[in-house]
Parts: sequence; structure tokens; C-alpha cells
Amino acid sequence: MKKHIVMMPGDGIGPEVTASAQQVLEAVAEEFSHRFTFEEQPIGGTAVDNHGSPLPASTTEACKAADAVFLGAVGGPKWDQNPAHLRPERGLLDIRKNLELFANLRPVKGFSSLLHASPLKEEVVQNSDFMIIRELTGGLYFGEPKERRNNGNSVVDTLAYDRHEIERIVRRGFEAARLRRGHLTSVDKANVLESSRLWREIVEEMKSEYPDVTVEHELVDAAAMKLITNPSHFDVIVTENMFGDILSDEASVITGSLGMLPSASLNEEAFGLYEPVHGSAPDIAGQGKANPIASILSTALMLRHSFGMDQEAQRIESAVSQAVEQGYHTADVNIPDGQVVNTKELTERIIDLMKADSTTTNIMNCYV
Ligand code: IPM
Ligand code: MN
Repeated sequence: MKKHIVMMPGDGIGPEVTASAQQVLEAVAEEFSHRFTFEEQPIGGTAVDNHGSPLPASTTEACKAADAVFLGAVGGPKWDQNPAHLRPERGLLDIRKNLELFANLRPVKGFSSLLHASPLKEEVVQNSDFMIIRELTGGLYFGEPKERRNNGNSVVDTLAYDRHEIERIVRRGFEAARLRRGHLTSVDKANVLESSRLWREIVEEMKSEYPDVTVEHELVDAAAMKLITNPSHFDVIVTENMFGDILSDEASVITGSLGMLPSASLNEEAFGLYEPVHGSAPDIAGQGKANPIASILSTALMLRHSFGMDQEAQRIESAVSQAVEQGYHTADVNIPDGQVVNTKELTERIIDLMKADSTTTNIMNCYV
């Protein structure tokens, strides 16, 4: 298959983990005889510096013409004092909006050999395997008005949702639960927020269409507690934009490092932007210390969700878990054992394991 992919490295460690992602995609193309072409586009703080905007119009155009998009990370102290429209994060929010990427999938799955890397007790984190589905183009992030008044002494942010915005994300939640273990947790704050009350009504309306899915409603504060006291309780969590942002960072402590979590941001069709959940980590940028696993696992999500390449995706995921189980990890994974390697070494290790996997398959095929 022929696919054109836009790569947006962004800021901080973004370029390093994007290079890892591209290397893995190139290896997949070679192994499975696909043709992937890559095009680099600016976003974030570096785009502000070089093009005067965190999201140049040409970047959006290139993304629209691509089959899928990868993003490294945006942000850094250098741009923290910039006005809102020149902040790196604005670029990320605008690309999500411009491409209508309303469904953000954040799978969280611990590796068995890294249970002790979590600050939580091993018996708490074991068997954690859930998916946070975060609404990505509405809610507090995008509600209008959003402004300062009264000489800057009063502020307004607006939490707004239309029925159709809630319906489409809740539907993604039900569909994902159906394909997994059939359990959906809808997280809201219906004891306080009107938006959450509509959210809850919609979940209740829709559940008759999914008799195979069990549904529970959980208030966000209680969900935050349960997520780290009993994470294996969860299968699919569906929630609004900001709740999902907060819960997914919290969930990362289960895997031992934020450097492990991939994400997919999808539109109504199969088009998507794939990015690690972690940020630009400016403190370690350019030092080869970044954990490439979140990015590499994001490329697996790209192959599965945008290209329908399940086998290829599985090959990546299996190589990553083999590398982890063999003890290879970057310094962010805080464990005394195993072998600390740099970004490049871990990426190469994973690619070698991917290739070795195919040899095994070929050998086996010889015998059938
Ligand atoms: C994320 C990030 C972004 C968000 C920031 C960088 C705007 O934290 O992708 O989770 O809040 O959505
Ligand atoms: Mn976040």
C-alpha cells in the first residue's frame, strides 16, 4: 500500500521521538512491502520562531492532503510568556480543530516487567488495561467567550457542548467497549455541571443500542481516585476534553512513565493525528534521553486505525513489549534493574526485534 504521512516534529524532544517514529515506519514499509512517503511540516514554538505562527496555513493544508499525520510534541519555556495566539500549544489545539479530530484514544496498558516501575503497589497496577477516550475539540478548551475583562481582573472560560458533539464521542466509547471487554465508564461531573447532565442523558439514551456493553457513570473526582486505587476496574473510559486531559496524565503513573503512552486523535472517518501523550520535555531535549516508546506505539495506532494494517501494528507492539521485557529502557523509567539505553539504541533494538519476528514467521511458513 502507498501512504503519504506528514511528520510534525515540533519542539523539545519532539524531533528525536519523531525520528524514531519515522525509522519504525520505514522498517514496517520495508518488511511488508508498503510505500510510505514522508513530508516534514512545522508546528509549535519552532513554527512561531521560523514562520511567525504556531500553525502556518501550509501545515494545515499539507495535513489535509496526507493519509495520516504524526506529531512529536510542542511547547517550552522559551515561548511561555508569548501572547495566547503565539503559544506553541495554540498550534496543537488549532490542528486538532482544523482537522476535526474529536476522538482522542489513549490506551493505557502496563508491561508486566515494569510493574515495579510504578510508584503504585505492584498488586494495584497489575492487569491494568484500559482505554481513555477523550473528547478533543469541544468543552473548556474551545468554548467562547474566553477572555479577560475588567482590566484583566475578571476572566471567563466557557464549557460548551452541542448534543451532536457528545453523541459522536459517546458512540466511540460504546464501539470501543464492544470491541474490548464490554465495559464503559462515562466520567462526568453531573452533580454540578449542566454540560455533564446532558452528557449523562445521552449515554443513557444510547445504551439501549449496545445491550452487550455494561455502562456505569462515575463522577470525575471519584474516577480520579479509582484510577489509581483500582485501575484494573476500567475497560473504556469516555469523558469530556479537560477531564480526559487530567485523567490521562494521572493514568500514566500506572505504566511507570508518561514516556510509554501513545495516542490517536481521529475524525469521523479513519483519518488521524498520532502523537505521544508526553510533552516536549525541554530539560532533556537534544540529549538522546527521550523515551521513544510512546511515539513508536503511536505509529502502531496509525497503522491500525488509519491504514487498516493490523498485522503491521501488532508487529510493532510485540517488538516493543519484547524490548521492554528484555529489560531495555530509557532513563525516565525509574527502575534499578535492566539496561538503560538512549533513544536511538532503544529504537534500533525495537526495529531489530521487529525484523527478527518476521524471520520466525518465514521459517515457520517453510514448514507448512
Ligand atoms: C495533551 C496536552 C495538551 C492538551 C496541551 C499541550 C495543549 O496536555 O495533549 O494532553 O491539554 O490537550
Ligand atoms: Mn495533557
